[in-house]
Amino acid sequence: MKDFKGKTAFITGGAEGIGFHIGRVLGREGMNVMLADIDTTMLAQAVETLKNEGLKVEGVALDVALKEEWEVAAEKAVATFGKVHLLVGNAGVAATGAHKHLTETDWRWTIDVNLMGIVYGAQVFHSLLKSHGEGGQILNVASIAGIHGVSFSGPYCATKAAVVSLSECWRSEFKKDGIGVSVLCPGFVKSRVYDSYRNRQARYGGPVYHDDLVKEKPARKYNKELVVTGIDTEIAANRVLEGLRNDEFFIFTHPHYRELHQMRVKEMDAGFDRSDVSPALVDVPRKGAILT
Ligand SMILES: NC(=O)c1ccc[n+]([C@@H]2O[C@H](COP(=O)([O-])OP(=O)(O)OC[C@H]3O[C@@H](n4cnc5c(N)ncnc54)[C@H](O)[C@@H]3O)[C@@H](O)[C@H]2O)c1
Repeated sequence: MKDFKGKTAFITGGAEGIGFHIGRVLGREGMNVMLADIDTTMLAQAVETLKNEGLKVEGVALDVALKEEWEVAAEKAVATFGKVHLLVGNAGVAATGAHKHLTETDWRWTIDVNLMGIVYGAQVFHSLLKSHGEGGQILNVASIAGIHGVSFSGPYCATKAAVVSLSECWRSEFKKDGIGVSVLCPGFVKSRVYDSYRNRQARYGGPVYHDDLVKEKPARKYNKELVVTGIDTEIAANRVLEGLRNDEFFIFTHPHYRELHQMRVKEMDAGFDRSDVSPALVDVPRKGAILT
């Protein structure tokens, strides 16, 4: 994405944290910004803050897990700014805990927000990003946890890995429509992601606060400690701007995590090496179609 000025970005989970700061850097580049969030109190504050900084920003209530709300939010974005060029699928929640303690509702909540929130976004916005012919872009916010699984974080890692995979699928699929795709994979960034249950919808059990979860299970305090020692949200947002400008597909914010990725690649290579000498595969051809 080369030109930002005068174009429009729609950012989910834009009321605070990484999404809010992405909104700020894009607004400073001259973009119109529609912040969308389930937390309407924080959303109103976010819009006011950025408007006071002279940026062209509006807000819209959106629960990304509800497709009908996506339709209404998209209509508001078009009615307000005319066209939409960039969709940032940033809203996400972190349900963590030992596998034996995670309930089906924990899984449903995380899948509906982190994965279906990305799917619905593309279903509703694809035609809007394409129709004006000025070029569109989708930035999906995954996580480094989508590149390598982490213990006690099953729903989070599984949904973030799905977001990485979907982004790969869409990169080639949407190219013909003039829509580029990027995926942001941050490590720890100072935000309130450790307190994600604060925004849990009533249908998944309603809000619970981090401090109360820690009273119940003291080990949960590490979730906060890891997040608050992360990099600043401003830094992550500046990196996003760089990544979009350079048309990067994988946008990373923590270079030292390369080690994790290399560990995985090494392990996979060893798996391919074993398959190459496997007696069970002796008659299997070593060539054939490879799809990307
Ligand atoms: N902070 C980190 O360390 C970190 C690391 C890797 C990836 N991420 C990802 O970055 C993204 C942003 O998280 P953050 O760190 O800014 O956390 P955050 O909790 O500070 O912000 C998340 C925002 O999403 C909103 N939200 C939650 N559920 C929603 C829903 N159903 N519909 C619409 N909005 C909803 C919240 O109200 C909040 O404004 C998430 O996808 C998260 O998984 C964060």
